[in-house]
Amino acid sequence: MDEIEKVHKNAVIEIDKVGNLSKLEELKIKYLGRSGTINKLLQNIKTVSNERKKEYGQKLNQLKLQLTELIEKHQLRLINQSEKSQTIDITMPGNEMLKGSLHPVTIAIQEISAVFSKIGFIRMSYPEAEWDYLAFDALNMPKTHPARDDFETTFLSGKPHERFGKMILTPHTSSGQIREMWRLKKPPIRMINIAKCYRPNWDATHTPMFHQFEGMCVDKNINITHLKGALDYFSQSYFGPETKTRLRPHHFQFTEPSFEVDVTCTACDGKGIVGAGRDPSTQKCKICKSGWLELGGTGMVHPNVLKEGNIDPDEFSGWAFGFGIERVIMMKYGIDDIRNYYSGDIRFLKQF
Ligand code: PHE
Repeated sequence: MDEIEKVHKNAVIEIDKVGNLSKLEELKIKYLGRSGTINKLLQNIKTVSNERKKEYGQKLNQLKLQLTELIEKHQLRLINQSEKSQTIDITMPGNEMLKGSLHPVTIAIQEISAVFSKIGFIRMSYPEAEWDYLAFDALNMPKTHPARDDFETTFLSGKPHERFGKMILTPHTSSGQIREMWRLKKPPIRMINIAKCYRPNWDATHTPMFHQFEGMCVDKNINITHLKGALDYFSQSYFGPETKTRLRPHHFQFTEPSFEVDVTCTACDGKGIVGAGRDPSTQKCKICKSGWLELGGTGMVHPNVLKEGNIDPDEFSGWAFGFGIERVIMMKYGIDDIRNYYSGDIRFLKQF
């Protein structure tokens, strides 16, 4: 019995001292191996008196289990240590931490809001699920008007409202004009409404969900020169100080007169050609072909729309515009496929 006790004590000390795995393996063989200490002690059982044989056997078995456990634990400790010492090699190059970034549309929304807030425009966000009435009828578009087909509106299920009709996903941000007039009750109005819009198209220049920013200014004596000034100010702030704008006659039900706005192309500085001194006919700018890029629709708010907002068109006048966010980013950076924004491709997104 004393012998077992002694072996136990020595083994604990010896195992604890071992600093590497191969030494530990040697110890394992020394104690637990076929001709190891434990087995030798087992053979000694013959010399033990009969009444103590049982106790001797139990003690020996216990020792075997204790040493096995000790060795296994020590083995794990050594493995852990060697892994740790490998990871603190300070000469190894570190792992690159991937940084997130803002989506280009988010960046543009922030930039556009900042540009307009400098001239006193208040940023609004109106619901994406809107009443049919506010998106069309209140904007002077009768039920049968063909322009309503252009939007190919998404209708939501649910009970129609008595006065406002069915619920839809906003096909444009112009319903925000009505909501803003209702909110403020009377001019002055200087609003920039930025929201998601939905139209069922999917090609290089259209995604079924996109963003628009809608500007509206209503006050006494507002005329087209104020509109042109605001458009120049926005274009020069957002695209660059040399940018020029032009208005082309157009038609919208909710503005009169109506225009489409063009800005000079950022890729060719409005020249329509790229590369100096070459044959212009073969060097047309691929982005614009003409020097101009179309920004979107605008005009003076139609008297019927002002009336819908409880504003007297004889006393007040105003202008409004609606432009696509994805579109202005494409124009600014010369991106040719809008679907990049929503492809989830990090290589595209992290350039901004
Ligand atoms: N709502 C129009 C569109 O989506 C743009 C527009 C807004 C035109 C305001 C005139 C005035 O095409």
